Amino acid sequence: MLYGSVLLFALVMVLFGLAYLRPAWVTRITPSQWIVGGGLVLPIPILVLLTGTALVLGEQLLPKGDAPLRFKAHAERWQWTFIYPDGREMSDETLHIPAGQAVDIAVTSEDVIHSFWVPRLGGKIDAIPGHENLIRLEADEPGTYWGQCAEYCGPGHDGMWFRVQAHAAEDFTALMEGRR
Ligand code: CUA
Repeated sequence: MLYGSVLLFALVMVLFGLAYLRPAWVTRITPSQWIVGGGLVLPIPILVLLTGTALVLGEQLLPKGDAPLRFKAHAERWQWTFIYPDGREMSDETLHIPAGQAVDIAVTSEDVIHSFWVPRLGGKIDAIPGHENLIRLEADEPGTYWGQCAEYCGPGHDGMWFRVQAHAAEDFTALMEGRR
């Protein structure tokens, strides 16, 4: 998208320059040629290409098939509870996941609509009472990634943050086993 818009910006600037300079070959282009060229021939392939790219890339973010691990994130004014694949919880306001592999997170809510968002790992998804929404995240590297409720949910909304801690695969396994 960035490369596409840089290219288009450059093209528009060239046209802008031509409008000022008005070289002879530009003045020979008729108004209807500008409308057909600039209004149809130019934008249609660009929109098809950019929209197509966005759809294909966006599709890859969807939880299709089975991710190896499935977590639950439950929102309640004003905190998050994370439930691990083995059905247990950890009460440290942190979601521990393995790095380098996709994980699915089933997002639910106890009371009002919240939104689960870890900006560096992916898009946001609403936490809706009585409904489960699935989001697929992947942390390429071990590290700490901050998350925040992204839907206004009352006076405690701004404090409804959490941490995602991505661990190397063997550390994650050790962490899960250490809890048993
Ligand atoms: Cu929960 Cu905002």
